[in-house]
Order: sequence, then C-alpha cells, then structure tokens
Amino acid sequence: ALPRDLEGRHVVVSAGGTREPLDPVRYLGNRSSGRQGHALARVAAQRGARVTLVAAHTADLVPPAGVDLVRVGSAEELRTAVHAAAGSADVLVMAAAVADFRPVSTVEHKIKKGDRDPEPVALTRNPDILAELVAARRPGQVVVGFAAETGDAETDVLGYGRAKLKRKGCDWLVVNAVGDGKAFEVEDNAGWLLSSGGAETPIPHGSKAQLASVVWDAIAPSAELRGTP
Ligand code: C5P
Repeated sequence: ALPRDLEGRHVVVSAGGTREPLDPVRYLGNRSSGRQGHALARVAAQRGARVTLVAAHTADLVPPAGVDLVRVGSAEELRTAVHAAAGSADVLVMAAAVADFRPVSTVEHKIKKGDRDPEPVALTRNPDILAELVAARRPGQVVVGFAAETGDAETDVLGYGRAKLKRKGCDWLVVNAVGDGKAFEVEDNAGWLLSSGGAETPIPHGSKAQLASVVWDAIAPSAELRGTP
C-alpha cells in the first residue's frame, strides 16, 4: 500500500500540452500526452492529497479518480486556472508542456485558402507560468518544474536541467530526455530529480507512475514541514 504522507495537503498539477489558437479550427500545439502529469496527480491522490489537476490537451486519457479536474486549452487559460488554485496549494507541479509562443492574434473566422500565398504567422511570447508561481510563492509552498530536453549525451540533458533549475528558481526540477521516441506520447520515462539544495536523484527507466513515486517520495517530507494539516 502507498504511504498516506500527503494527507491534508493540497497539490496542484498541470498536465498536457497547450493549444494556441490561430483561428476557430486551428492551433499550434505540441506532442505532450499528459501521461506524466496524470500519473503525478493519481499518485498524489492515492497518497492522500487533495489534488487539482489542470489539464490542457491530453491524449484520450481517463482522468484519475478523486481529483478535481479543470480543463483548459491555451497557455493563458492554464495560467488563469493554475493561479486560481495556487492560493491554497502546498505543492505546485508544472508538468504541462506550455507553449512558449502563441499567435499574436486569433483570427475570428476560419482562414480561407484563397489564391494567394499564406501570410506568415506572427508569434509572441507566452508568460512563463512556472516563473510567476516561483515569484508569488508563499513561505513553505513547494514549486516543482519539468524540463524536457533533447541532446546527444545524457550529460547534455542533465546539464540543461541544472541550468534550468537555477534560472527558474523552483525548489525541484524533473529533467528528462525527449525526442527519438522518448517520454512524449509513450508510457515510460526516466531522468533526474534535481533539488535547489543540489541533490541529484537519478530516476531509473520505468513507468510514469514510478517516476511520480520518486518525486512524491522526495517532496512529501518537505510538504509535511508546514505543521499539522
Ligand atoms: O523553459 P521550459 O519551457 O523548458 O520550462 C519548462 C517548465 O516551465 C515546465 O515546468 C513548464 O510547465 C514550465 N513552463 C511554464 N510556462 C511557460 C513555459 C514553460 O510554466 N510559458
């Protein structure tokens, strides 16, 4: 049986890939399936947490039982939902693949093919929601980021993860390799869990639930430090 070490805690997990609308029928998206975020939410609920799962686009996954599900589309919607839930959260886990850029404007009606070459799509930067959560963090609130990196050597991926942990200022960062059939759209994952204190825990290749357990094993003790629920 799983430990009930998240009893009385409120955990917010974002999952899936955002879709940035171009017009009413088209979007810019990414290959995130939402599986890792779902696994983190499911395991947290099994360990006793109250869980808010903010789900952007996910593959045809069944949401975990016993979580409060908030469905969102774009990065902007995800931002609003995560900030709304963050006030009472003990732990915030940003597992969603948030689009870095969105179209400057969303066309009101479907863009027609016409006879001319298409206009280039102008993009603008999305806010970094993880950085905002870190900036707005309450004392004792634990913020976890993810980094999906490509690279030839495993050491590239770990190096990017270390740099991202520093840059984002979160307490924990899970870094995993993507591309070449790794992590996105599949059932398995592997990587490292990095702490702001410098601890680096390799996460052996396994299911996304196993990765989630490594993360909660590490975080539950610090999430418990806030006293009795
Ligand atoms: O910088 P990068 O996109 O690789 O950072 C990944 C981490 O930052 C993930 O935890 C992701 O959920 C979060 N993120 C975010 N807002 C963005 C982009 C990424 O919160 N606009």
